[in-house]
Amino acid sequence: MKTYDVVVIGAGAAGLMCALTAGYRGLRVRVVDHANKAGKKILMSGGGRCNFTNLATTSANFFSRNPHFSISALKRYTPQHFVELIERHGIEYVEKTPGQLFCAHSAKDVVSMLLTECEWAGVEVSLSTTVDNVERLGDGMRLRIDGRTVDTGSLVVATGGLSIPTLGASGFGYDLARQFGLAVTETRAALVPFTVTSQWKSSLASLSGLSCPVVARCGDGQYREPMLFTHRGLSGPAMLQASSHWQPGMAVEIDWLPSVPVEESLRELRQSAPRRQLGTWLGEVLPRRLSQALMQWQSWKDRPMAELSNADIDTVAQGLKTWHFKPAGTEGWRTAEVTLGGVDTETISSKTFAVNGIPQLHFIGEVLDVTGQLGGYNFQWAWASGVASGQSV
Ligand code: FDA
Repeated sequence: MKTYDVVVIGAGAAGLMCALTAGYRGLRVRVVDHANKAGKKILMSGGGRCNFTNLATTSANFFSRNPHFSISALKRYTPQHFVELIERHGIEYVEKTPGQLFCAHSAKDVVSMLLTECEWAGVEVSLSTTVDNVERLGDGMRLRIDGRTVDTGSLVVATGGLSIPTLGASGFGYDLARQFGLAVTETRAALVPFTVTSQWKSSLASLSGLSCPVVARCGDGQYREPMLFTHRGLSGPAMLQASSHWQPGMAVEIDWLPSVPVEESLRELRQSAPRRQLGTWLGEVLPRRLSQALMQWQSWKDRPMAELSNADIDTVAQGLKTWHFKPAGTEGWRTAEVTLGGVDTETISSKTFAVNGIPQLHFIGEVLDVTGQLGGYNFQWAWASGVASGQSV
């Protein structure tokens, strides 16, 4: 007789969702987590308001070596399903930018909802609990949990990624995957601010706290979002999104005026307002502090429009539309929201999330090589993969 039908390692978004789904099927389910609180990342997310889904979620919003892997689960458990759950619990929410849903009050509402559902589904949640050893035992699994032997029919690994170790992140899921012969693709911190060289740091200091809408391009990624100057470097949604495409040595291209056809505007102004200074115009279309900094970085002389040659206009247009910047690095795991890469999906069923050849072992959520863009996609993946595995364990 096994102690449990299902043991889930990780009381985060994916693990709790899987546990409650399996619990409602009448299975004996236990969730174990080494942290002292469930859902710590949920509590931190979305500035404490949890951007819990994105209504426009499709597999195109995810990075993975196998871009098709996420399709099945995302189709079966949609953002609307999660919204129904949220509404059933009377949680108020707001759509901040199109499609991005946040709690109106606090991310705590989402964690309480998941824990309530787990309780209703008869799930046992053990916090501050350590899994010491995992081995295959016949058609089940044998674990050592806090020094005790626990036998389970299925084991679900929902240990998440490596970002923010102080919130309980660990490489345990990757180690387990390797133990059972699965490959783990290279992991990298993503949705993370960029750092700058000390030289840039001093010239950015005066801009700290300033936010402006830009288009950021890096590799094959292009995002029209706000960027934010901080005292450490460059952040805000545009930079976080770009970081998922960035590798050391690469440049990030910024269009400072995505809504302005700069070349045409300057040519037109040269005719209609020949005495207008270049700096005055720039100060009108961009925040003044930024316009002054750009003039300085690009060594542009402040002079009347009439004095700008066609070549000068081209230079200014290029400097504003395709400004290239080489980050020194990123802030790394300390502040990254997610991990790119993870357990290779090659040998995992996209329907059940079981490992091929080891049907009693499942991997779900961010521990897998499936990583969403910024905007609620990562939680939608956690919910969808959690439900898919909870229905099949
Ligand atoms: P998650 O990390 O949630 O849970 C893993 C659990 O496993 C943790 O509770 C951990 O303690 C436990 N664990 C790890 N190792 C263990 C071990 N050895 N033994 C036992 N337990 C172990 N996404 C989004 O869609 N919208 C948003 O607003 C945000 N905002 C955001 C802000 C910040 C600051 C961060 C860091 C991240 C986000 N994210 C986000 C990303 C989102 O939080 C993340 O993708 C999901 O939480 C992943 O869910 P998982 O359940 O896979 O892992």
